[in-house]
Amino acid sequence: MSQLKTLSHLDSIPSSPGKFKPDKPSFQIHRLRLHSSLLSRLAFWSLLFLTLMAFLFLLSPPSSPSSSSFSQPRRNLGSGASWGGREWEKRLRKSAAPRSNPGRTVLVTGAAGFVGSHVSLSLRRRGDGVVGLDNFDSYYDPGLKRARQNLLSRSGVFIVEGDINDRELLKKLFDVVPFTHVMHLAAQAGVRYAMENPSSYIHSNIAGFVNLLEACKSANPQPAIIWASSSSVYGLNSKVPFSEKDRTDQPASLYAATKKAGEEIAHTYNHIHGLSITGLRFFTVYGPWGRPDMAYFFFTKNILKGKQITIYEGPDHSSVARDFTYIDDIVKGCLGALDTAKKSTGSGGKKKGAAQFRIFNLGNTSPVPVTELVRILEKLLKVKAKKKLLPLPRNGDVKFTHANISLAHSELRYEPKTDLEAGLKKFVKWYISYYNNGSKKSSFR
Ligand SMILES: NC(=O)c1ccc[n+]([C@@H]2O[C@H](COP(=O)([O-])OP(=O)(O)OC[C@H]3O[C@@H](n4cnc5c(N)ncnc54)[C@H](O)[C@@H]3O)[C@@H](O)[C@H]2O)c1
Ligand SMILES: *[C@@H]1O[C@H](CO)[C@@H](O)[C@H](O)[C@H]1NC(C)=O
Ligand SMILES: *[C@@H]1O[C@H](CO)[C@@H](O)[C@H](O)[C@H]1NC(C)=O
Repeated sequence: MSQLKTLSHLDSIPSSPGKFKPDKPSFQIHRLRLHSSLLSRLAFWSLLFLTLMAFLFLLSPPSSPSSSSFSQPRRNLGSGASWGGREWEKRLRKSAAPRSNPGRTVLVTGAAGFVGSHVSLSLRRRGDGVVGLDNFDSYYDPGLKRARQNLLSRSGVFIVEGDINDRELLKKLFDVVPFTHVMHLAAQAGVRYAMENPSSYIHSNIAGFVNLLEACKSANPQPAIIWASSSSVYGLNSKVPFSEKDRTDQPASLYAATKKAGEEIAHTYNHIHGLSITGLRFFTVYGPWGRPDMAYFFFTKNILKGKQITIYEGPDHSSVARDFTYIDDIVKGCLGALDTAKKSTGSGGKKKGAAQFRIFNLGNTSPVPVTELVRILEKLLKVKAKKKLLPLPRNGDVKFTHANISLAHSELRYEPKTDLEAGLKKFVKWYISYYNNGSKKSSFR
């Protein structure tokens, strides 16, 4: 609407400002002669002025991209967000400054997301410098992402608004801040959405990841990278529990395929450029500030609203099961991976020696049937769910997941402590206080 207004305003301006207005016919000839001499003089001076401008332009030195004191104009993203400028850089530096852990500064991509916001807060609380990066896409309610952003902002974490595909932005970030680590959690998540918007998975999980790795490769010093892969890479595997050494070549969704591709791409950058890279295969993460597109979240919402929920079943009415992992346990795994990451070995984009390359499962080692998830939610919400059972459609979801976490346990001291009921209790408490804004709050405090 406002854009339309602007356009109609532009329409009312004449296309050539110097155009003569029609005058009274009797003076026409005389005026024309007068104007033509005036015009030629005007043209001469304009030409001189333009030549001078062009000359000055050619003489001026090219602005150096690395000189951050010469503040760049703010850049506009499609969403209306922008980056750049002196004030922006000041906020960036302040957020990046470590309080303890001298010299440790982490770039967290997807910082306005579920896992990213928790990891950022945890890093900041222990004293690391943290800068977030997120494009606030509308895959799910951006209002929730803004609320997480407010939470982080109160703890001194600045989230840069931008896309990991923006090469100039990444270059600028690494020019201004010598990041020691990158915690890469930005992605197009969700399995079923690929039926609707497949290219968003390619954009964020493949193209965006490559763009980020390119920036890391060229950065000086090169950061160590810890990034989120997914348990979905185990795809149609039937051997349980899933171990890191198992084959991962039968993905059941485009999402899984892009995560698998990410693991291969990560290996390439490790091999060629000496980047230290750790991939973490998360198993169904849940908890406060979670993702509205996940079953535990929209089951809660619909049960409270008295709306029917659909529970998918495997063949012969077998239950679909997930190795649900509580967010605080995942955060500990992420920090464990960060703390044990070795430095990248490359510089100037060239490898100097072999660099660390790791992959870990981060799960809970106890798969729970979805029917049990619903039973716990009914108990916590004190509402009986209206259930509808349907066979699991073949659009990406697998029948079960179960992590073998012995590798993460020995290398990262990873030890999940929260069972599903305890974790859901915390989620429900958060859910009620976040969405009810009053009424039912008290019964969960
Ligand atoms: N939550 C889970 O159960 C789970 C399981 C396995 C793997 N993972 C992975 O963990 C990571 C974090 O997941 P989450 O649950 O927090 O998801 P999330 O969607 O809440 O967080 C991802 C964030 O990344 C941002 N983002 C997406 N594309 C971007 C882009 N191109 N540029 C910049 N920002 C972008 C989004 O705005 C979002 O805030 C993802 O890589 C996800 O694939 C999550
Ligand atoms: C789990 O993985 C480890 C290797 O990381 C392996 O030694 C162990 O046998 C696996 N456990 C099971 C139950 O498969
Ligand atoms: C409570 O707040 C949320 C988000 O802040 C909003 O979406 C919701 O409508 C509010 N609910 C009530 C009952 O006011």
